[in-house]
Amino acid sequence: MKLKQLLIAVGTLMVLSFSQSALASEGHEAALKHAKIDVTDQAQIRRGLTVFTDVCMGCHSATYVTYKGLMDYPEIGLSREEVDELRGDHAMTEGIRTELSLEDGEASYGKVPPDLSVIVAARRGGANYVYSILTGFENDPEGKIPEGNYNEYFPGHRIAMPDPLAWLDHEPEDTAQLEKDAQDVSAFLAFIADPHQNERRALGCWVLGFLLLLTLVLWRLKVEVWKDVKH
Ligand code: HEC
Repeated sequence: MKLKQLLIAVGTLMVLSFSQSALASEGHEAALKHAKIDVTDQAQIRRGLTVFTDVCMGCHSATYVTYKGLMDYPEIGLSREEVDELRGDHAMTEGIRTELSLEDGEASYGKVPPDLSVIVAARRGGANYVYSILTGFENDPEGKIPEGNYNEYFPGHRIAMPDPLAWLDHEPEDTAQLEKDAQDVSAFLAFIADPHQNERRALGCWVLGFLLLLTLVLWRLKVEVWKDVKH
């Protein structure tokens, strides 16, 4: 009887949590595309940084990332010369910041382009969301939202950001390159949203390894201590 009750309780919990997540995803637009990113892949993160500085930084800042950080995080690991070239007159301790003022941003696009330092942590779907937005510019199937402002994955579909990778009108042979740029910059943004994630994961592995070893040692010790005791 007890077991039966327990099973019923567990079953109810599972059904509840499933319907919760089903509810949570309701109201969200189309299912997000999957971005192939690897936040330990230095080459991808660096390519993403280049897309960020060449394209996104025209409008967006990532002020939590300092020029020094670009040198110090091993996942980016730029040389001093590369950082100097990027920062120009800016101090090493400054965050990377667009030249576009908030007022000009709002005047030009109707919305202030948000700081992207933690956008991956702040939006459901994270890097997949960013990737989907970048490759989600389409023509409005209902013809209501003007060309260039319709995005399949943006809540409400009307986005103030002008199609940054020119996805809407791209030639078919450029699809792979644009997808790669979008994935790379999503990887960069995923990394900077939580720059210590790789360290934490590595530490977690060490801790688990240590606990396993400790368990083995203690078990051997127990066997040793009890070996002469009859039971
Ligand atoms: C020409 C200016 C401009 C450029 C270049 C630009 N953006 Fe934006 N971006 C905007 C504006 C404006 C918004 C605000 C959109 C809104 O709220 O409707 C925005 C919003 C966003 C959002 C947030 C959507 C949300 O959920 O709030 C993301 C993510 C984003 N941009 C990523 C990028 C990336 C990555 C790049 C570079 C590949 C980029 N943007 C380049 C202007 C720009």
